[in-house]
Amino acid sequence: MANTILVGAQWGDEGKGKIIDVLTEQADVVVRYAGGNNAGHTVIVNGKKSVLHLIPSGILRKNKLCVIGNGVVCDPLGLVQEMEGLAKSGIKVTPKNFVLSETAHVVLPYHRELDAQREVIKGKNKIGTTKRGIGPAYGDKAARVGLRIADLVDSDRLKEKLAARIKENNAVLKSLGAKPLSFAKVFADYDKAGKFLKPFVANTVVLLHDAMNRGVEMLFEGAQGTFLDIDHGTYPFVTSSNTTAGGACTGSGVPPHRMDRVVGVMKAYTTRVGEGPLPTENQVISDLLHGMGREFGATTGRARRCGWFDSVATRHATMVNGIDDLAVTNLDGLDTVESIKVCIAYRHGKKRYDYVPNDAQVLAECEPVYAEFEGWCTPTDKCKTWKQLPAKARAYLKAIAELTGAKLFIASVGPGREQTIFV
Ligand code: GDP
Ligand code: IMO
Ligand code: MG
Repeated sequence: MANTILVGAQWGDEGKGKIIDVLTEQADVVVRYAGGNNAGHTVIVNGKKSVLHLIPSGILRKNKLCVIGNGVVCDPLGLVQEMEGLAKSGIKVTPKNFVLSETAHVVLPYHRELDAQREVIKGKNKIGTTKRGIGPAYGDKAARVGLRIADLVDSDRLKEKLAARIKENNAVLKSLGAKPLSFAKVFADYDKAGKFLKPFVANTVVLLHDAMNRGVEMLFEGAQGTFLDIDHGTYPFVTSSNTTAGGACTGSGVPPHRMDRVVGVMKAYTTRVGEGPLPTENQVISDLLHGMGREFGATTGRARRCGWFDSVATRHATMVNGIDDLAVTNLDGLDTVESIKVCIAYRHGKKRYDYVPNDAQVLAECEPVYAEFEGWCTPTDKCKTWKQLPAKARAYLKAIAELTGAKLFIASVGPGREQTIFV
């Protein structure tokens, strides 16, 4: 029996959705523990693409229980839309395969509006958020003025709490020059969503412990990535939750000693969407990947910033998350590159860093120190086994895993389920 936490080891969009889908074959329960519909997890099965934002990526497999844990901030309208989208593509979401925590927090329209307004105020210092209201929703949670799913599914309670929150937030929105919200409209929309979601709502802590006592295998689906973590990321250019492995415990109610291993997902290169430092950012590799039609955000469609693999960052991720096993995705993205760079340290003035400095300003000023690897210049997307991979690709994978300080477990050579090599 192994309970596995899967985290992004970089800046998000590492291919977590694909790897979750692959690993769900061995699991019984998949739990989302942090973030909200800022996430976009792509899964491609038999050529058909699904992008999951809130529902765990395990939903595409039959007879698996998918859980949204207490650590998630949930936009109920977005969730209902996602469930309807899945139904249209033939995937049934029922209370048998999907459960939503009654203590997850609710994202409301004033959160989205405040998110957008704060970005405008920040001007050139903006974070580049997904504008899904994530920061303000977690802010309300910490300030103890948030609404939880249990409030959403009780019409009377929703009416009372929402009225007070809209009154306060409308005053703020007005002061920012934004349009106030209509209580009647918001209440009608959210009450309708609450009624739809009610059959799916449960005490997920008790449910997960009952499942654990029956000996089921659980997979904890991380969202975002290590360097977007509110504590361990490149603050303030981060999201508002603990995206790292510890967040799986607080965000689900499953204690640390019941977790058996941590899988870190990372691309064979680096990407980031939104603002903030990215030491290995490189125009040549950006142009190459965008030219191939790759690296556009799954949630906002924005072009992702791209750079060389940064082993200082991934080594730091191994430390913070306790990564045991590595899944390296998008190896095929480097198939045509003749000489591949890997960042092995940062230089800042006379100082050399082999860890990620906490000061985002210092990190932004760091110059990468690179090692170079010979490219394999052969397509890898049809490779099925470790042996079929070109020797130079194997050497590259071994080197980046060694630099990252964890065991190479999966090499992914395409977005499809079948394009997965277990090492
Ligand atoms: P997530 O947020 O970590 O789940 O990642 P996203 O879905 O946002 O972005 C990862 C992108 O890479 C998606 O378009 C995936 O379909 C794609 N992807 C994942 N693994 C591979 C791979 O090995 N090769 C290629 N070509 N694409 C991949
Ligand atoms: P997945 O799970 C990549 C980024 C945003 C922005 C910052 C804060 O698909 O890997 P937020 O809307 O959370 O307040 O934005 O975090 N961001 C992500 N980047 N992948 C994600 O999720 C992200 N979720 C948020 O672009 O820079
Ligand atoms: Mg994504």
